[in-house]
Amino acid sequence: MATIALTVNGKSQQVTAEPDTPLLWVVREHLKLTGTKYGCGAALCGACTVHVDGKATRSCVTPVSAVAGKKVTTIEGLAPKGDHPLQKAWIAEQVPQCGYCQSGQIMQAAELLATNKKPTREQIVTHMDGNICRCGTYTRIVRAIERAAREA
Ligand code: FES
Ligand code: FES
Repeated sequence: MATIALTVNGKSQQVTAEPDTPLLWVVREHLKLTGTKYGCGAALCGACTVHVDGKATRSCVTPVSAVAGKKVTTIEGLAPKGDHPLQKAWIAEQVPQCGYCQSGQIMQAAELLATNKKPTREQIVTHMDGNICRCGTYTRIVRAIERAAREA
C-alpha cells in the first residue's frame, strides 16, 4: 500500500491504495465519484474517460501511482453547476439513451473544445472515434458538440 496525493476536481486528496490500482476505482470507490463508468476495463470503450492535467485519459488502465501530484477532473468537476456548454448542449440535443457511456463522451469532447473552440465536423468525428456507444447515439453526440462550439 502507498499513500498517494492527487488533486481531484480542485480538491487535494490523499489516497491509500496499491500503487497499481486503476484510477477508475480510486475515483469511484475511494472518492465515491460514480459518474465515471466502467465499461471494458481495457482502454477499448472510453466510458471511464477523465482528464489528467487536462488530457482525456482512460482511467481503467491508468494506475493511481501515475497521477500522483497531478490534477484529475471527472464529470462531476467539469463545471461546478453541471452547466458546461457541452452539458447544456447534451440536454438540448437529448443525446443519451441508456446514458452509460455519456460521461466519457462528454469528457472526451471537452478535451477537444478546450484546445479547438471551433472544430470541423471531421475533427469532431476523428476526436470522438474511440468512444463507443452501444446505443448508437453518435449522430446526436456530433450535433451536441457542434451546438456547444456554436453557443459557448
Ligand atoms: S472502461 Fe476504460 S476504456 Fe472501457
Ligand atoms: S447511451 Fe447507452 S451506451 Fe451510449
